[in-house]
Amino acid sequence: MEKLLVVTGRGGVGKSTFAALCARRLASSPLLIDADPDQSLASLLGIDLAAEGVNSISDVLYKLQDPKAYKELGSMPLAQKMEYLISLSCLYEGPQFDLLTLGVKWTRGCYCQPNNVLQSLIPSLAQNYRYTVLDSPAGLEHVNRRVVRRVNDIFALIDPSTKALRNARRLVEIAQAIGVQFGNLYLVGNYRFTAEAEQRARAFDGATYLGSVRGDEQVQSFDWDGRSLLDLPEDSPALQDVGAILAKAGYEQKVEG
Ligand SMILES: Nc1ncnc2c1ncn2[C@@H]1O[C@H](COP(=O)(O)OP(=O)(O)O)[C@@H](O)[C@H]1O
Ligand SMILES: [Mg+2]
Repeated sequence: MEKLLVVTGRGGVGKSTFAALCARRLASSPLLIDADPDQSLASLLGIDLAAEGVNSISDVLYKLQDPKAYKELGSMPLAQKMEYLISLSCLYEGPQFDLLTLGVKWTRGCYCQPNNVLQSLIPSLAQNYRYTVLDSPAGLEHVNRRVVRRVNDIFALIDPSTKALRNARRLVEIAQAIGVQFGNLYLVGNYRFTAEAEQRARAFDGATYLGSVRGDEQVQSFDWDGRSLLDLPEDSPALQDVGAILAKAGYEQKVEG
């Protein structure tokens, strides 16, 4: 059974780091989808998409609006063109994960069409993977726009603030209101979490607190140096914590050795 994991939370909370470490830990190489406008997942994984010649989905859809672009595809229907171009030029394929970046270059008024494509494309791509991990901005926009309809687990990263818990509350309400089917809503404390925040997270009604990711200097130094988080040493506290959190959520993990 394929599983869709959604990692969400406010900017800077540690979503992309968590998503990257999922790729290191999950038993089978996942499809990662970067839906976060800051588009940092690729760089956390040590890849330069431009140098690899990989486009974001929004870049392709933007270019498609130019009648002179992609002339070589002739009279192929638009939806088919999109699917073809996206699978041809937007999917980064690597040994430990594949990566799709949604991008930010959406033109006004063209929201609906990309959503339609993504709605059919993401599930059809995801069925080739045991795990798909969506790095999603706070507010579940992509879930909200029904780009994904069925989610197994939502991991909401939170920092130690009442605002973070309020956002988590909103998340529960949005998920229920839009009728997205999801298995579990999990709270995960971020690298700044405190004992008091942990107490509050445990008492939170409507979500299960799975633990926190410890602050880890190497996560930051790898980020500075442009090194892939997949190369973190096995004893990295952040990596161990993400592993423990995935284990609590019932995910089978890679055996390293
Ligand atoms: N466990 C951690 N320990 C130390 N720093 C972290 C940890 N997780 C994330 N960070 C740092 O926090 C910043 C934001 O992380 P990031 O994963 O990009 O957040 P988001 O995707 O939510 O915006 C980065 O500089 C990252 O290196
Ligand atoms: Mg991010």
